[in-house]
Amino acid sequence: MIRIILKEIIIITALTEIAQSLLISKTQIKCESYDHKRCTKENKCDVEEVLCPNDSEKPHVTSSCYVVWSLDELGAPGNISMKGCFTDNAECNQPECIARNIKPNGIIFCCCKGSFCNRNYTYIPTPTTPPSTSPKEPAGDNNILYFLIAFLILIALIIVFCFGLCLYRRKKQGAFNEIPTIEPDVANSSPNLAPRPIHLIEMKARGRFGSVWHGRLRNQDVAVKIFFAQEKDSYNTELEIFKLPRMRHPNILEFIAAEKHFEKIPQEYWLITAYHTYGSLCDYLKAHTITWFELCKIAETMARGLMHLHEEIPSTNPDNYKPAVAHRDFKSKNVLLKSDLTACIADFGLAMIFQPGQPCGDTHGQVGTRRYMAPEVLEGAINFTRDAFLRIDVYACGLVLWEMVSRCNIHNGLVSEYTLPFETELGLHPTLNEMQENVVMKKIRPRICEVWRTHSGLSAICDTMEECWDHDAEARLSSSCVMERISQHTRYPTTPLLIETNTDTTFRDS
Ligand code: ADE
Repeated sequence: MIRIILKEIIIITALTEIAQSLLISKTQIKCESYDHKRCTKENKCDVEEVLCPNDSEKPHVTSSCYVVWSLDELGAPGNISMKGCFTDNAECNQPECIARNIKPNGIIFCCCKGSFCNRNYTYIPTPTTPPSTSPKEPAGDNNILYFLIAFLILIALIIVFCFGLCLYRRKKQGAFNEIPTIEPDVANSSPNLAPRPIHLIEMKARGRFGSVWHGRLRNQDVAVKIFFAQEKDSYNTELEIFKLPRMRHPNILEFIAAEKHFEKIPQEYWLITAYHTYGSLCDYLKAHTITWFELCKIAETMARGLMHLHEEIPSTNPDNYKPAVAHRDFKSKNVLLKSDLTACIADFGLAMIFQPGQPCGDTHGQVGTRRYMAPEVLEGAINFTRDAFLRIDVYACGLVLWEMVSRCNIHNGLVSEYTLPFETELGLHPTLNEMQENVVMKKIRPRICEVWRTHSGLSAICDTMEECWDHDAEARLSSSCVMERISQHTRYPTTPLLIETNTDTTFRDS
Protein backbone atom coordinates (compact mmCIF):
# COMPACT_ATOMS: atom_id res chain seq x y z
CA MET A 1 0.00 0.00 0.00
CA ILE A 2 2.77 2.38 0.96
CA ARG A 3 4.58 1.36 -2.18
CA ILE A 4 1.49 2.20 -4.19
CA ILE A 5 1.18 5.58 -2.47
CA LEU A 6 4.89 6.35 -3.07
CA LYS A 7 4.53 5.35 -6.69
CA GLU A 8 1.54 7.70 -7.08
CA ILE A 9 3.43 10.54 -5.39
CA ILE A 10 6.35 9.99 -7.77
CA ILE A 11 4.00 9.98 -10.76
CA ILE A 12 2.22 13.15 -9.55
CA THR A 13 5.54 14.88 -8.96
CA ALA A 14 6.77 13.89 -12.42
CA LEU A 15 3.53 15.06 -14.02
CA THR A 16 3.76 18.34 -12.10
CA GLU A 17 7.35 18.87 -13.36
CA ILE A 18 6.29 18.08 -16.93
CA ALA A 19 3.37 20.44 -16.62
CA GLN A 20 5.67 23.11 -15.12
CA SER A 21 8.26 22.71 -17.86
CA LEU A 22 5.51 22.93 -20.49
CA LEU A 23 4.24 26.11 -18.88
CA ILE A 24 7.76 27.62 -18.75
CA SER A 25 8.43 26.92 -22.42
CA LYS A 26 5.19 28.62 -23.35
CA THR A 27 5.40 31.89 -21.35
CA GLN A 28 8.99 32.17 -20.08
CA ILE A 29 12.27 32.19 -21.95
CA LYS A 30 15.82 31.35 -21.05
CA CYS A 31 18.76 33.52 -22.00
CA GLU A 32 22.51 33.24 -21.75
CA SER A 33 23.74 35.30 -18.85
CA TYR A 34 27.18 36.86 -18.36
CA ASP A 35 28.63 39.82 -16.52
CA HIS A 36 32.31 40.61 -17.11
CA LYS A 37 32.44 42.43 -13.73
CA ARG A 38 31.90 39.08 -12.03
CA CYS A 39 35.07 37.73 -13.64
CA THR A 40 38.23 37.81 -11.63
CA LYS A 41 41.63 36.32 -12.40
CA GLU A 42 40.96 33.28 -10.17
CA ASN A 43 37.33 32.91 -10.99
CA LYS A 44 36.69 31.34 -14.31
CA CYS A 45 33.66 33.21 -15.50
CA ASP A 46 31.47 31.03 -17.60
CA VAL A 47 28.37 31.90 -19.48
CA GLU A 48 25.33 30.76 -17.50
CA GLU A 49 21.72 30.19 -18.30
CA VAL A 50 18.95 32.21 -16.71
CA LEU A 51 15.23 31.86 -16.70
CA CYS A 52 13.67 35.18 -17.40
CA PRO A 53 10.78 36.18 -15.16
CA ASN A 54 7.42 37.27 -16.53
CA ASP A 55 4.98 39.69 -15.06
CA SER A 56 1.65 37.84 -15.06
CA GLU A 57 -0.21 41.11 -14.43
CA LYS A 58 1.21 42.69 -17.58
CA PRO A 59 0.84 40.07 -20.29
CA HIS A 60 1.92 42.53 -22.99
CA VAL A 61 5.27 42.96 -21.23
CA THR A 62 7.48 40.07 -22.27
CA SER A 63 11.08 39.11 -21.72
CA SER A 64 13.95 39.53 -24.16
CA CYS A 65 17.54 38.41 -24.24
CA TYR A 66 20.32 40.91 -24.79
CA VAL A 67 24.05 41.22 -25.37
CA VAL A 68 26.27 44.24 -24.68
CA TRP A 69 29.72 44.14 -26.22
CA SER A 70 32.28 46.36 -27.90
CA LEU A 71 34.52 46.16 -30.96
CA ASP A 72 38.23 45.59 -30.59
CA GLU A 73 40.84 48.02 -32.03
CA LEU A 74 40.60 46.31 -35.41
CA GLY A 75 36.83 46.67 -35.50
CA ALA A 76 36.18 42.94 -34.93
CA PRO A 77 33.64 41.81 -32.28
CA GLY A 78 35.67 42.01 -29.11
CA ASN A 79 34.83 41.81 -25.44
CA ILE A 80 31.39 40.90 -24.24
CA SER A 81 30.35 43.15 -21.39
CA MET A 82 27.05 41.61 -20.46
CA LYS A 83 24.51 39.01 -21.49
CA GLY A 84 21.16 38.41 -19.87
CA CYS A 85 17.47 39.11 -20.10
CA PHE A 86 15.16 41.97 -19.38
CA THR A 87 11.48 42.76 -19.71
CA ASP A 88 10.39 45.10 -22.42
CA ASN A 89 7.15 46.06 -24.07
CA ALA A 90 7.69 44.22 -27.27
CA GLU A 91 10.39 46.48 -28.66
CA CYS A 92 12.85 43.64 -29.20
CA ASN A 93 10.92 41.68 -31.77
CA GLN A 94 13.73 40.19 -33.79
CA PRO A 95 14.52 36.43 -33.44
CA GLU A 96 18.28 37.04 -33.72
CA CYS A 97 20.41 39.45 -31.70
CA ILE A 98 21.46 41.94 -34.39
CA ALA A 99 22.68 45.44 -33.50
CA ARG A 100 22.11 48.13 -36.12
CA ASN A 101 24.07 50.95 -34.59
CA ILE A 102 26.96 51.63 -32.35
CA LYS A 103 26.97 54.06 -29.40
CA PRO A 104 29.40 56.99 -29.52
CA ASN A 105 31.46 55.32 -26.74
CA GLY A 106 31.91 52.19 -28.95
CA ILE A 107 29.44 50.03 -27.01
CA ILE A 108 27.09 47.83 -29.04
CA PHE A 109 23.75 46.53 -27.79
CA CYS A 110 21.38 44.00 -29.30
CA CYS A 111 18.26 42.28 -28.03
CA CYS A 112 15.99 39.52 -29.31
CA LYS A 113 12.98 37.34 -28.56
CA GLY A 114 13.31 33.61 -27.95
CA SER A 115 15.23 31.31 -25.67
CA PHE A 116 18.98 31.61 -26.02
CA CYS A 117 18.60 33.96 -28.95
CA ASN A 118 21.52 35.91 -27.42
CA ARG A 119 23.94 33.01 -27.87
CA ASN A 120 25.04 34.52 -31.16
CA TYR A 121 25.14 38.23 -31.80
CA THR A 122 26.16 40.44 -34.71
CA TYR A 123 26.56 44.07 -35.62
CA ILE A 124 25.22 45.02 -39.10
CA PRO A 125 25.30 48.78 -39.57
CA THR A 126 22.29 50.29 -41.33
CA PRO A 127 23.63 51.45 -44.71
CA THR A 128 21.26 54.45 -44.93
CA THR A 129 22.25 55.84 -41.53
CA PRO A 130 25.92 55.14 -41.02
CA PRO A 131 26.99 56.11 -37.52
CA SER A 132 29.54 58.57 -38.82
CA THR A 133 27.04 60.70 -40.75
CA SER A 134 24.80 63.21 -39.05
CA PRO A 135 21.12 62.33 -38.73
CA LYS A 136 18.72 63.31 -41.49
CA GLU A 137 16.59 65.84 -39.69
CA PRO A 138 19.42 68.08 -38.52
CA ALA A 139 20.81 67.95 -42.09
CA GLY A 140 17.51 69.31 -43.33
CA ASP A 141 17.66 72.00 -40.67
CA ASN A 142 21.17 72.86 -41.78
CA ASN A 143 20.03 73.25 -45.38
CA ILE A 144 17.34 75.72 -44.31
CA LEU A 145 19.91 77.57 -42.23
CA TYR A 146 22.38 77.78 -45.14
CA PHE A 147 19.59 78.96 -47.43
CA LEU A 148 18.55 81.63 -44.91
CA ILE A 149 22.12 82.87 -44.50
CA ALA A 150 22.63 83.00 -48.29
CA PHE A 151 19.33 84.84 -48.67
CA LEU A 152 20.25 87.39 -45.99
CA ILE A 153 23.67 87.96 -47.59
CA LEU A 154 21.98 88.49 -50.95
CA ILE A 155 19.53 91.02 -49.47
CA ALA A 156 22.43 92.83 -47.74
CA LEU A 157 24.37 92.96 -51.03
CA ILE A 158 21.34 94.35 -52.88
CA ILE A 159 20.86 97.04 -50.19
CA VAL A 160 24.55 97.99 -50.34
CA PHE A 161 24.42 98.12 -54.15
CA CYS A 162 21.26 100.31 -54.19
CA PHE A 163 22.69 102.59 -51.54
CA GLY A 164 25.93 102.97 -53.49
CA LEU A 165 23.99 103.66 -56.69
CA CYS A 166 21.90 106.35 -54.93
CA LEU A 167 25.02 108.02 -53.54
CA TYR A 168 26.67 107.92 -56.94
CA ARG A 169 23.61 109.42 -58.64
CA ARG A 170 23.16 112.08 -55.98
CA LYS A 171 26.82 113.06 -56.30
CA LYS A 172 26.40 113.38 -60.03
CA GLN A 173 23.14 115.34 -59.75
CA GLY A 174 24.58 117.56 -57.04
CA ALA A 175 26.54 119.26 -59.78
CA PHE A 176 23.38 120.08 -61.65
CA ASN A 177 20.25 122.02 -60.88
CA GLU A 178 17.72 119.83 -62.64
CA ILE A 179 17.03 116.13 -62.79
CA PRO A 180 17.41 115.00 -66.38
CA THR A 181 14.92 112.76 -68.16
CA ILE A 182 17.75 110.47 -69.23
CA GLU A 183 20.58 110.07 -66.77
CA PRO A 184 23.41 112.29 -68.03
CA ASP A 185 26.55 110.38 -68.68
CA VAL A 186 30.05 111.62 -68.95
CA ALA A 187 32.21 110.35 -71.79
CA ASN A 188 31.79 106.74 -72.52
CA SER A 189 35.37 106.79 -73.62
CA SER A 190 36.04 103.09 -73.65
CA PRO A 191 35.58 101.61 -77.10
CA ASN A 192 34.70 98.35 -75.35
CA LEU A 193 31.56 99.81 -73.81
CA ALA A 194 28.46 99.11 -75.80
CA PRO A 195 27.12 102.33 -77.36
CA ARG A 196 23.63 103.43 -76.44
CA PRO A 197 20.81 102.16 -78.65
CA ILE A 198 20.43 105.38 -80.62
CA HIS A 199 18.50 105.37 -83.84
CA LEU A 200 19.53 108.25 -86.12
CA ILE A 201 16.42 109.52 -87.94
CA GLU A 202 17.30 112.61 -89.93
CA MET A 203 20.20 114.98 -90.41
CA LYS A 204 19.14 118.43 -89.23
CA ALA A 205 22.26 120.50 -89.85
CA ARG A 206 25.74 120.24 -91.25
CA GLY A 207 28.65 122.44 -90.24
CA ARG A 208 32.43 122.66 -90.32
CA PHE A 209 32.55 120.49 -87.13
CA GLY A 210 30.33 117.67 -88.49
CA SER A 211 26.56 117.21 -88.42
CA VAL A 212 23.54 117.31 -86.11
CA TRP A 213 21.00 114.49 -86.25
CA HIS A 214 17.55 113.97 -84.86
CA GLY A 215 17.66 110.59 -83.13
CA ARG A 216 15.69 108.35 -80.75
CA LEU A 217 17.12 106.93 -77.57
CA ARG A 218 14.85 104.65 -75.52
CA ASN A 219 11.63 106.32 -76.73
CA GLN A 220 13.00 109.82 -76.26
CA ASP A 221 13.86 112.32 -78.99
CA VAL A 222 17.51 113.30 -78.82
CA ALA A 223 19.88 115.43 -80.86
CA VAL A 224 23.15 113.76 -81.82
CA LYS A 225 26.01 116.05 -82.73
CA ILE A 226 28.56 114.00 -84.63
CA PHE A 227 32.03 115.52 -84.76
CA PHE A 228 34.58 114.60 -87.43
CA ALA A 229 37.76 113.06 -86.03
CA GLN A 230 39.68 116.28 -86.80
CA GLU A 231 37.14 118.25 -84.70
CA LYS A 232 37.99 116.28 -81.57
CA ASP A 233 39.06 119.49 -79.80
CA SER A 234 35.61 121.06 -80.30
CA TYR A 235 34.03 117.87 -78.94
CA ASN A 236 36.32 117.89 -75.90
CA THR A 237 35.73 121.59 -75.24
CA GLU A 238 31.96 121.22 -75.50
CA LEU A 239 31.97 118.15 -73.29
CA GLU A 240 34.10 119.97 -70.73
CA ILE A 241 31.57 122.80 -70.62
CA PHE A 242 28.61 120.42 -70.23
CA LYS A 243 30.41 118.66 -67.38
CA LEU A 244 31.00 121.85 -65.41
CA PRO A 245 29.15 122.04 -62.10
CA ARG A 246 25.75 123.75 -62.27
CA MET A 247 25.60 123.82 -66.03
CA ARG A 248 22.11 122.37 -65.95
CA HIS A 249 19.85 125.30 -66.57
CA PRO A 250 16.52 125.65 -68.40
CA ASN A 251 18.17 128.01 -70.89
CA ILE A 252 21.27 125.95 -71.57
CA LEU A 253 20.93 122.96 -73.93
CA GLU A 254 20.45 119.81 -71.85
CA PHE A 255 23.34 117.37 -72.08
CA ILE A 256 22.52 113.65 -72.07
CA ALA A 257 25.63 111.66 -72.97
CA ALA A 258 28.87 111.53 -74.92
CA GLU A 259 30.26 108.64 -76.91
CA LYS A 260 33.50 107.97 -78.77
CA HIS A 261 32.99 105.73 -81.77
CA PHE A 262 36.39 104.26 -82.46
CA GLU A 263 34.82 101.39 -84.34
CA LYS A 264 33.83 103.80 -87.13
CA ILE A 265 36.31 104.75 -89.84
CA PRO A 266 37.07 107.61 -89.64
CA GLN A 267 36.46 107.84 -85.88
CA GLU A 268 33.47 109.84 -84.67
CA TYR A 269 32.73 111.74 -81.49
CA TRP A 270 29.09 112.01 -80.44
CA LEU A 271 27.40 114.46 -78.13
CA ILE A 272 23.84 113.48 -77.25
CA THR A 273 21.59 116.30 -76.05
CA ALA A 274 17.93 117.19 -75.78
CA TYR A 275 16.20 117.58 -79.12
CA HIS A 276 14.15 120.67 -79.92
CA THR A 277 11.78 120.36 -82.87
CA TYR A 278 11.82 124.06 -83.77
CA GLY A 279 15.59 123.95 -84.21
CA SER A 280 17.52 127.18 -84.08
CA LEU A 281 16.17 130.70 -83.57
CA CYS A 282 17.64 131.57 -86.97
CA ASP A 283 15.64 128.75 -88.64
CA TYR A 284 12.51 129.80 -86.76
CA LEU A 285 12.80 133.49 -87.73
CA LYS A 286 13.35 132.53 -91.37
CA ALA A 287 10.05 130.67 -91.35
CA HIS A 288 7.98 132.66 -88.86
CA THR A 289 7.29 136.16 -87.71
CA ILE A 290 6.93 136.58 -83.96
CA THR A 291 4.51 138.53 -81.78
CA TRP A 292 5.68 141.06 -79.22
CA PHE A 293 4.82 138.56 -76.49
CA GLU A 294 6.88 135.83 -78.20
CA LEU A 295 9.75 138.24 -78.71
CA CYS A 296 9.79 139.05 -74.99
CA LYS A 297 9.76 135.38 -74.08
CA ILE A 298 12.51 134.36 -76.49
CA ALA A 299 14.67 137.39 -75.71
CA GLU A 300 14.35 137.07 -71.96
CA THR A 301 15.10 133.34 -71.84
CA MET A 302 17.99 133.74 -74.26
CA ALA A 303 19.44 136.51 -72.04
CA ARG A 304 18.92 134.32 -68.98
CA GLY A 305 20.88 131.52 -70.63
CA LEU A 306 23.74 133.86 -71.54
CA MET A 307 23.70 135.39 -68.08
CA HIS A 308 23.95 131.93 -66.50
CA LEU A 309 26.82 130.97 -68.79
CA HIS A 310 28.72 134.17 -67.93
CA GLU A 311 27.99 133.91 -64.23
CA GLU A 312 30.60 132.74 -61.77
CA ILE A 313 28.82 130.86 -58.97
CA PRO A 314 31.07 130.64 -55.92
CA SER A 315 31.02 127.64 -53.61
CA THR A 316 33.15 126.39 -50.76
CA ASN A 317 32.75 122.96 -52.33
CA PRO A 318 34.94 122.81 -55.46
CA ASP A 319 32.50 120.29 -56.96
CA ASN A 320 29.81 122.97 -56.88
CA TYR A 321 31.81 125.94 -58.09
CA LYS A 322 30.78 127.21 -61.50
CA PRO A 323 33.36 129.33 -63.27
CA ALA A 324 32.43 132.08 -65.74
CA VAL A 325 32.24 130.84 -69.33
CA ALA A 326 32.41 132.86 -72.54
CA HIS A 327 30.60 131.34 -75.53
CA ARG A 328 32.69 132.97 -78.29
CA ASP A 329 30.34 131.95 -81.09
CA PHE A 330 27.07 133.49 -79.99
CA LYS A 331 24.58 133.79 -82.88
CA SER A 332 20.96 133.00 -83.70
CA LYS A 333 22.01 129.59 -85.12
CA ASN A 334 23.35 128.64 -81.69
CA VAL A 335 20.17 129.59 -79.84
CA LEU A 336 17.62 126.76 -79.91
CA LEU A 337 13.89 127.15 -79.42
CA LYS A 338 12.00 124.73 -77.21
CA SER A 339 8.40 123.77 -77.96
CA ASP A 340 7.12 126.49 -75.56
CA LEU A 341 9.20 129.09 -77.41
CA THR A 342 11.69 129.51 -74.62
CA ALA A 343 15.30 129.61 -75.70
CA CYS A 344 18.35 127.58 -74.77
CA ILE A 345 21.94 128.20 -75.70
CA ALA A 346 23.87 125.51 -77.56
CA ASP A 347 27.22 124.80 -79.24
CA PHE A 348 30.03 125.29 -76.77
CA GLY A 349 32.78 124.06 -79.09
CA LEU A 350 34.66 127.38 -78.88
CA ALA A 351 33.72 128.30 -75.32
CA MET A 352 36.29 129.43 -72.77
CA ILE A 353 36.30 128.68 -69.05
CA PHE A 354 37.71 131.29 -66.67
CA GLN A 355 39.14 129.55 -63.63
CA PRO A 356 40.12 132.09 -60.95
CA GLY A 357 43.82 132.79 -60.78
CA GLN A 358 44.51 131.02 -64.05
CA PRO A 359 45.52 132.84 -67.23
CA CYS A 360 43.08 132.77 -70.15
CA GLY A 361 45.40 130.41 -72.00
CA ASP A 362 47.09 130.76 -75.34
CA THR A 363 43.87 131.18 -77.25
CA HIS A 364 43.48 132.66 -80.65
CA GLY A 365 41.45 135.81 -80.20
CA GLN A 366 39.86 135.91 -83.63
CA VAL A 367 37.44 132.99 -83.44
CA GLY A 368 33.72 132.71 -84.04
CA THR A 369 31.52 133.63 -86.97
CA ARG A 370 32.81 136.66 -88.90
CA ARG A 371 29.38 138.31 -89.22
CA TYR A 372 28.93 138.33 -85.44
CA MET A 373 32.48 139.42 -84.54
CA ALA A 374 32.77 142.47 -82.33
CA PRO A 375 34.91 145.34 -83.64
CA GLU A 376 37.77 144.54 -81.23
CA VAL A 377 37.81 140.93 -82.50
CA LEU A 378 37.79 142.03 -86.14
CA GLU A 379 40.62 144.41 -85.31
CA GLY A 380 42.55 141.74 -83.50
CA ALA A 381 42.81 144.05 -80.52
CA ILE A 382 41.15 142.25 -77.70
CA ASN A 383 42.19 142.25 -74.10
CA PHE A 384 42.73 138.67 -73.01
CA THR A 385 40.67 139.12 -69.89
CA ARG A 386 37.51 137.44 -68.73
CA ASP A 387 35.36 140.56 -69.05
CA ALA A 388 36.70 141.30 -72.52
CA PHE A 389 35.53 137.88 -73.71
CA LEU A 390 32.14 138.27 -72.04
CA ARG A 391 31.62 141.66 -73.75
CA ILE A 392 32.31 140.05 -77.12
CA ASP A 393 29.35 137.70 -76.46
CA VAL A 394 27.16 140.68 -75.51
CA TYR A 395 27.98 142.41 -78.81
CA ALA A 396 26.74 139.32 -80.68
CA CYS A 397 23.66 139.18 -78.43
CA GLY A 398 22.76 142.71 -79.62
CA LEU A 399 22.79 141.47 -83.22
CA VAL A 400 20.50 138.54 -82.31
CA LEU A 401 18.06 140.95 -80.61
CA TRP A 402 18.04 142.91 -83.84
CA GLU A 403 17.17 139.72 -85.80
CA MET A 404 14.20 139.11 -83.50
CA VAL A 405 12.90 142.68 -83.63
CA SER A 406 13.20 142.63 -87.44
CA ARG A 407 10.73 139.73 -87.48
CA CYS A 408 8.32 141.03 -84.86
CA ASN A 409 4.86 141.49 -86.34
CA ILE A 410 3.56 144.33 -84.26
CA HIS A 411 2.47 145.96 -87.43
CA ASN A 412 0.12 143.26 -88.66
CA GLY A 413 1.88 141.87 -91.66
CA LEU A 414 4.34 144.67 -92.36
CA VAL A 415 7.38 142.59 -91.56
CA SER A 416 10.28 142.23 -93.96
CA GLU A 417 11.78 138.91 -94.94
CA TYR A 418 14.32 137.50 -92.54
CA THR A 419 17.86 138.73 -93.14
CA LEU A 420 21.05 138.01 -91.27
CA PRO A 421 22.72 140.96 -89.48
CA PHE A 422 24.65 143.02 -92.11
CA GLU A 423 23.15 140.92 -94.90
CA THR A 424 21.52 144.02 -96.38
CA GLU A 425 24.78 145.95 -96.12
CA LEU A 426 27.38 143.27 -96.88
CA GLY A 427 25.55 140.33 -98.44
CA LEU A 428 25.71 136.66 -97.54
CA HIS A 429 29.49 136.14 -97.57
CA PRO A 430 31.29 139.22 -96.30
CA THR A 431 35.08 139.02 -96.24
CA LEU A 432 37.08 139.86 -93.15
CA ASN A 433 38.19 143.06 -94.83
CA GLU A 434 34.61 144.09 -95.56
CA MET A 435 33.61 143.39 -92.01
CA GLN A 436 36.55 145.37 -90.63
CA GLU A 437 35.92 148.30 -92.97
CA ASN A 438 32.24 148.55 -92.10
CA VAL A 439 32.05 147.43 -88.48
CA VAL A 440 35.38 148.79 -87.21
CA MET A 441 36.12 151.79 -89.42
CA LYS A 442 32.66 153.03 -90.40
CA LYS A 443 31.06 151.72 -87.20
CA ILE A 444 28.11 150.44 -89.24
CA ARG A 445 25.43 148.48 -87.38
CA PRO A 446 22.27 146.79 -88.62
CA ARG A 447 19.60 149.33 -89.43
CA ILE A 448 16.94 150.11 -86.81
CA CYS A 449 13.68 150.85 -88.64
CA GLU A 450 11.83 153.97 -87.60
CA VAL A 451 8.63 152.04 -87.30
CA TRP A 452 10.11 149.92 -84.54
CA ARG A 453 10.46 153.05 -82.48
CA THR A 454 6.70 153.53 -82.67
CA HIS A 455 6.25 150.68 -80.21
CA SER A 456 7.44 151.52 -76.71
CA GLY A 457 8.46 147.96 -75.93
CA LEU A 458 10.25 147.41 -79.22
CA SER A 459 11.85 150.80 -78.88
CA ALA A 460 13.25 149.77 -75.47
CA ILE A 461 14.58 146.56 -76.99
CA CYS A 462 16.22 148.67 -79.71
CA ASP A 463 17.90 150.77 -77.02
CA THR A 464 19.09 147.59 -75.34
CA MET A 465 20.56 146.18 -78.56
CA GLU A 466 22.39 149.45 -79.21
CA GLU A 467 23.89 149.27 -75.74
CA CYS A 468 24.95 145.71 -76.49
CA TRP A 469 26.78 146.52 -79.73
CA ASP A 470 28.48 149.67 -78.54
CA HIS A 471 31.83 150.18 -80.22
CA ASP A 472 33.35 150.77 -76.81
CA ALA A 473 33.36 147.30 -75.30
CA GLU A 474 33.46 148.66 -71.78
CA ALA A 475 30.32 150.72 -72.39
CA ARG A 476 28.31 147.59 -73.28
CA LEU A 477 25.71 146.14 -70.96
CA SER A 478 26.53 143.01 -69.03
CA SER A 479 24.44 139.93 -69.87
CA SER A 480 22.67 140.23 -66.51
CA CYS A 481 21.69 143.82 -67.37
CA VAL A 482 20.38 142.67 -70.75
CA MET A 483 18.25 140.10 -68.99
CA GLU A 484 16.99 142.69 -66.48
CA ARG A 485 16.07 145.15 -69.21
CA ILE A 486 14.14 142.56 -71.20
CA SER A 487 12.42 141.01 -68.22
CA GLN A 488 10.92 144.38 -67.32
CA HIS A 489 8.65 144.03 -70.34
CA THR A 490 7.52 140.59 -69.25
CA ARG A 491 6.85 141.79 -65.72
CA TYR A 492 5.04 144.96 -66.81
CA PRO A 493 3.56 144.14 -70.22
CA THR A 494 3.42 147.09 -72.57
CA THR A 495 -0.07 148.46 -72.93
CA PRO A 496 -1.30 148.41 -76.49
CA LEU A 497 -0.50 151.65 -78.23
CA LEU A 498 -2.58 153.58 -80.72
CA ILE A 499 -0.02 155.47 -82.72
CA GLU A 500 -0.58 157.74 -85.69
CA THR A 501 1.84 157.17 -88.53
CA ASN A 502 2.18 158.74 -91.92
CA THR A 503 0.00 155.96 -93.27
CA ASP A 504 -3.47 155.65 -91.84
CA THR A 505 -2.67 152.26 -90.38
CA THR A 506 -3.51 151.77 -86.74
CA PHE A 507 -0.75 149.79 -85.09
CA ARG A 508 -1.40 147.84 -82.00
CA ASP A 509 0.27 145.20 -79.94
CA SER A 510 -0.52 141.70 -80.89
N1 ADE B 1 20.17 121.71 -84.09
C1 ADE B 1 21.30 121.74 -83.39
N2 ADE B 1 21.11 121.24 -82.20
C2 ADE B 1 19.81 120.88 -82.13
C3 ADE B 1 18.99 120.32 -81.13
N3 ADE B 1 19.50 120.00 -79.97
N4 ADE B 1 17.71 120.11 -81.39
C4 ADE B 1 17.23 120.43 -82.56
N5 ADE B 1 17.94 120.93 -83.55
C5 ADE B 1 19.21 121.17 -83.34
